[in-house]
Amino acid sequence: MARIVTIERHILEQQKQFPKATGAFTQVLYDMALSAKIIARETTRAGLVGILGETDDQNVYGEQQQKLDIFADQTIFKMNDHTGRLCAMASEEHEDMIEIPAHFDSGKYVLLYDPLDGSSNIDVNVSVGTIFAIHRKISSGERGTLADLLQPGRSLAAAGYVTYGSSTMMVYTTGQGVHGFTLDPSVGEFLLSHENIRVPATAKYYSANQGNEKYWTPGMRRYAKWLQGIEGEGRKPLGHRYIGSLVADFHRNLLRGGVFFYPGDLHEAGKPYGKMRLMFEAQAMAFLAEQAGAYASDGIGDILDIQPYSLHQRVPLIVGNRDLVEKAEEYIRKYDQEWVEAYRPFREGVREQA
Ligand code: AHG
Ligand code: MN
Ligand code: MN
Repeated sequence: MARIVTIERHILEQQKQFPKATGAFTQVLYDMALSAKIIARETTRAGLVGILGETDDQNVYGEQQQKLDIFADQTIFKMNDHTGRLCAMASEEHEDMIEIPAHFDSGKYVLLYDPLDGSSNIDVNVSVGTIFAIHRKISSGERGTLADLLQPGRSLAAAGYVTYGSSTMMVYTTGQGVHGFTLDPSVGEFLLSHENIRVPATAKYYSANQGNEKYWTPGMRRYAKWLQGIEGEGRKPLGHRYIGSLVADFHRNLLRGGVFFYPGDLHEAGKPYGKMRLMFEAQAMAFLAEQAGAYASDGIGDILDIQPYSLHQRVPLIVGNRDLVEKAEEYIRKYDQEWVEAYRPFREGVREQA
């Protein structure tokens, strides 16, 4: 029988590499694992308990919130508000920074999360996920500020995701490789199943919502043709797989090799920045990608280097095998100067997104 390592033990082992660690940070990760179990319990019986269906509320993006979005959001908040380990939180489902209630202690970290990613897939029994990212507090006051949340991905202390698929898995990094744990529902524990994940050198898949192709820039359209082996050096085509849940698409490509892209485009005036959220989706995935030997770009450069200016800012995302992502950057440099000029001010914070 193989060695059995629970996520708790694994996190503690990793902590030993940092003799000065207080354990607060490891506990935040462990609380994420516990939140994940609770959310998994609800997603797996979503069809049974009448929790399905949309509420009348819309989130800050004008999208309809699913009930499970709210449930997942509250679960993560309630798990973390009173522990004294965080000084602030931010969630895709909340317009503003979430403060730690005044009657609870404030801590040294901030947590950013997309409580339920791919939520439009719930009603049709397709994989969804949770994404999280942890930064260290940098401001000097007692309580957390927006500045603690708006740090570049390069400063992340940890990031990860949970995928609620055919089984529930939690995958995380603290900058010491990427490790995956599968939930054994019979014992209620996440067990180490994928140690030190490295993206395979040869990619199998590309993933994009190709229904949007007519809106893509000339460079991205050519890039898709290149992935299909139509344009360029006559390479073997990659398979096309797209779930519409970033977590699930990313996870598959991480294990099998591939590239996911949700590019920016020019079809809506003044919005060249695409759909993915920098703080709740892209940063975490970029950190995981780098730790697994892959790469994430917004088409111009590394996602991890972007200095954020708004919690809900959006960003183009191209993530996967480094050679494939760099190829996209090359196509963009060559054919998409108009788009680059429109997008760059948003990347640099010279213009702010509406
Ligand atoms: P969320 O459910 O958190 O709003 O995220 C949905 C995101 C992401 O998971 C996915 O990759 C993408 O939206 C799919 O968008 P399209 O439906 O436009 O392809
Ligand atoms: Mn999402
Ligand atoms: Mn979401």
